Amino acid sequence: MSVFDNAAFERHERIVHCTDPVSGLRAIIAVHSTHRGPAAGGCRLWHYANANDAVTDVLRLSQGMSYKNAMAGLDLGGGKAVIMADPSQDVTEDQLRAFGRFVETLRGSYITAEDVGMTVEAMQIIASETRHVAGLPPEAGKAGGDPSPKTADGVFHGIRAAVAYRLERDSLEGLRVAVQGVGHVGANLCKALHDAGAKLWVADINESRVEHMCDAYGAQPLPLDEIITADVDVVAPCALGAVLNANTIAGLRTSIVAGAANNQLATDQDGQLLFNAGVLYAPDYVINAGGIINVACEYSASASDAEVDQRVEEIGARLKAIFEQSERLEVPTNVIADEMAKGLIGRGAGTKAH
Ligand code: NAI
Repeated sequence: MSVFDNAAFERHERIVHCTDPVSGLRAIIAVHSTHRGPAAGGCRLWHYANANDAVTDVLRLSQGMSYKNAMAGLDLGGGKAVIMADPSQDVTEDQLRAFGRFVETLRGSYITAEDVGMTVEAMQIIASETRHVAGLPPEAGKAGGDPSPKTADGVFHGIRAAVAYRLERDSLEGLRVAVQGVGHVGANLCKALHDAGAKLWVADINESRVEHMCDAYGAQPLPLDEIITADVDVVAPCALGAVLNANTIAGLRTSIVAGAANNQLATDQDGQLLFNAGVLYAPDYVINAGGIINVACEYSASASDAEVDQRVEEIGARLKAIFEQSERLEVPTNVIADEMAKGLIGRGAGTKAH
């Protein structure tokens, strides 16, 4: 099947299939839009069942980055990369270097950084081949480093905004939150919520991470298939995508879904289902923009760490504006966000959105 026939293809500017026979690297870089600036978005290391799944993922994720970067007010377009991992071995230094060389061939039209499965150390290796990389160790007081703590900060501000809007309360004391996935972002989010007095329920396929949340923040474990439908005030998906679908939405017992995971809605129509069910949904690419704000400031060396924090905090106000417009127009929050984003990246009505 041609990539142009893929349901997730949305007039992407460029899709680069990268193979390096020496190291065994197989990767795909998708540049969705450079209308607002260089296409920025992380690199995901994942074991895909087949190449079509990898293509679909990178197309969806890169479009999401265009929307996210525009909505975060950044002078950046949207792109993303996936490295197709071999389940039998870790990604090698040679593969990361080969990936860096492919990034370099794009001459700055794509800027990479961490995503699922990648680390600061991996970015340092990639940086030995290209300067179009962020998420490197920061200089004192400067933006940089692993972006996931900033992503978690943004999700925390987003949860505060959603709680203020839907539950009409400013304090998070005693708020009941279910966090699905307590990796880089989820664990930092648990800390911030715990510090604010929230009560936590957590689930993760990695049991030691669950245990750590229970020990450190008094969280309670839940089975994997019960976390999304937990009887709580807020559900925060912080694992992988498509967790909100007709089945899970029918079982929801929360009135707020606000978490970090990309592509939480299995389909756009699921946003309508959430709206119909009276669930306030914080559009994923708006609430999880903290990391990319950090990445953008690091790459352009344009802001101090304190300024990054200020810009991340603005995510709360941005979500409030979306919630208000959604209520006023009786249109789901994901549709409102998509329309705002499309306007900002210069792709108006008639553009297919996923
Ligand atoms: P991570 O890989 O560190 O953590 C993900 C966690 O989810 C892991 O602990 C994993 O074991 C768990 N998990 C996987 N499948 C699961 C399942 N079915 N049920 C429960 N837990 C499961 O990834 P990270 O960096 O924390 O990212 C989490 C999500 O947030 C991803 O969707 C990512 O794309 C998104 N995101 C991350 C950003 C960042 O700065 N790291 C920025 C924006 C979005």
